[in-house]
Amino acid sequence: MTLLNKCKLLDFKEYGDERGKLVAIENNKDIPFDIKRIFYIYNADDKTVRGCHANRNSEFVLINVSGSSEVKINDGSHSINIHLDKPMTGIYIPKMLWKEMYNFTTDAVLLCLTNTYYDSEEYIRDYEQYLTEIKSNEQI
Ligand code: TYD
Repeated sequence: MTLLNKCKLLDFKEYGDERGKLVAIENNKDIPFDIKRIFYIYNADDKTVRGCHANRNSEFVLINVSGSSEVKINDGSHSINIHLDKPMTGIYIPKMLWKEMYNFTTDAVLLCLTNTYYDSEEYIRDYEQYLTEIKSNEQI
């Protein structure tokens, strides 16, 4: 399975009329998990690099609701770069993938949905440690 197949681009329905546009996202229907937490990144710029970690338990959906940003996703062997610039498009990222978010426009708001409450212990912030853990998971 390719990395992009594991990750999945999600297209949300957009409702629009003369009053503007609206996207509605429902738990477990439009998002392939139970949403426990949302956070958003803003006030970043083209020099900002965020993320640089993998999560042992958290799955994410990232949606750039304003402006644009990029996410690089790496599984230890391959990497893909996704340009996010549409409020009706998200990228689903399963657990145990290395993520870096960068190239933010100054108006970017990156909305992040996840299936866990925040737990700093489930973050792997060292890339060598990440490679060690994915190798040992493969042997199980
Ligand atoms: P950090 O993990 O460095 O953000 P990013 O993944 O975008 O690089 O988190 C920045 C700070 O925010 C850090 O002090 C932890 C805190 N934080 C929470 O308290 N709850 C959360 O859900 C997140 C994502 C971060």
